[in-house]
Amino acid sequence: MTSIRKIAVCGAGGTMGAGIALVAARGGFETVCFDRSADGLARSRKAAEKFLAKSVERGRMSQDDCDATLARISDETELSALTDCDLIIEAIFENLEVKQALFEELDRICKPETIFASNTSTLSITQIAGGCGREDRVVGMHFCLPAQMMKLIEMSRGLNTSDETFQTAWNWTRATGQMPVETQDKPGFILNALLVPFNNDVIRAIEAGLASAEDIDTAIRSGLGYKMGPCTLIDLIGLDTQILLGEAFYPITLDRRASVPPLLRRMVAAGKLGNKSGRGLLTGPAAVPAQTGLEFLIHQTGESRSFPAGDSFRSSASQAGPVCIHLGGGFEPDTSKTAVLVELDTECLGVHTGEDMGREGSNALGFARYRNGNDAPSNLIELVRQPGTSPEALAAARAVFEAAGFDVAVCADQPGRIVDRLVRPKYNDALRFLDEGLASAEDMDQTCRMGLGYPDGLIERVARGGLERHYDITSAIYEMTGQQGYAPARRSVVAKSRERLGT
Ligand SMILES: NC(=O)c1ccc[n+]([C@@H]2O[C@H](COP(=O)([O-])OP(=O)(O)OC[C@H]3O[C@@H](n4cnc5c(N)ncnc54)[C@H](O)[C@@H]3O)[C@@H](O)[C@H]2O)c1
Repeated sequence: MTSIRKIAVCGAGGTMGAGIALVAARGGFETVCFDRSADGLARSRKAAEKFLAKSVERGRMSQDDCDATLARISDETELSALTDCDLIIEAIFENLEVKQALFEELDRICKPETIFASNTSTLSITQIAGGCGREDRVVGMHFCLPAQMMKLIEMSRGLNTSDETFQTAWNWTRATGQMPVETQDKPGFILNALLVPFNNDVIRAIEAGLASAEDIDTAIRSGLGYKMGPCTLIDLIGLDTQILLGEAFYPITLDRRASVPPLLRRMVAAGKLGNKSGRGLLTGPAAVPAQTGLEFLIHQTGESRSFPAGDSFRSSASQAGPVCIHLGGGFEPDTSKTAVLVELDTECLGVHTGEDMGREGSNALGFARYRNGNDAPSNLIELVRQPGTSPEALAAARAVFEAAGFDVAVCADQPGRIVDRLVRPKYNDALRFLDEGLASAEDMDQTCRMGLGYPDGLIERVARGGLERHYDITSAIYEMTGQQGYAPARRSVVAKSRERLGT
């Protein structure tokens, strides 16, 4: 049940405002679309008509509902049309002074009960509400792009927001069929606080020569089951927007990972903004996987996390062949082979082979099949090369795994390879946010599933994979890189200590 009847969206001529207005009108609410730009409003109306017509075409909505939804929307360029609204959601430019000025003006003309909501991504709800005259009736409502398709709304209270305001706004989001989660009024709430540093890590990894954008996307999609690879997402968001996000977060959080990676600035300077400019991180289609591979034999020295006993890959091994695969951590150089593969755990390949960087033509490669704790191994093989690895050895190793149906991502011999290097700092963030009370584990996980398209939440996944294992992996990467993002989160240190104590 909601007491709200009439709502307004400020900035309805823009990307987010247009979608939010659709959510409100589709949910049965009289919706005033306000924007300073009449052209913007006309564009949004056209987009709404097109979107709703598609919904009818696909059988998601009746023609009557479509007509009724459009009839509930009115367009306004005068603020005075908003005086009797029960809820006003602003989605105007991301600028504190501009948002504050709008709320001050609205406070002067609106009825006292009107609730103001802000869709800000990076600003503080408390600051936006500051001085508007009704700080107790201002709430954060962060919709996801595109709002008309994404159900998640991150809801937050400013320091002065009343419980009644929060509850009324919360009930309204439920009444529209959206899925609210509660988060504190902190930079980036949940979604962007997890995403902005992660995306920057991805760009830094490319800059550090870890792997290509295509291989990073393959690894994250196949290893973690994310719907979209991070490079595809950054190209979609826009590299210029990613810079703005970093510039907004870094000064407030002083988190080095939030700061703008130099490569990002160079790419934007070169006109590579992502999809909007036709050029971004991804440069071409992924290579076509090999259908056939060379014969291979297996040497086993210890337990294999990649191919446990009974794994079907083992049954395709021969007694001999030009490729030798060492499972369980062992390695013996053999120059008579095209490729010698070493199964890796948290260590680098250099631990087994030495690091003679100038040496050309090495036939040794590392590999690991990505696996979260004791979950079934994923379909991803991370293939580790060194600077002098011969192209023949790399091609042979790739073909052995691709012919067996695995997704292969090639990376340099750097700590954590691709997936752990990128995902572990994010698990650390999520665990720290939990300690700091940013949101509940359920709301954080819901945000990941519904807002980011992950198959499961970060807390759920890191806990399932074992906090002790998280400690082992992050401390190994931390030892090798010294980077703060890998310092094991408190909860994993506790879990490891308890394991050591046998409690
Ligand atoms: N784009 C996203 O992915 C996304 C996601 C979630 C939240 N947000 C937030 O939503 C807000 C809007 O972002 P956007 O990407 O839709 O921007 P946009 O530039 O597409 O749209 C902004 C609209 O606001 C209008 N506007 C600006 N100042 C105004 C004023 N004083 N009064 C009335 N209208 C005004 C502009 O004419 C424009 O139509 C920002 O706060 C942003 O941080 C954006």
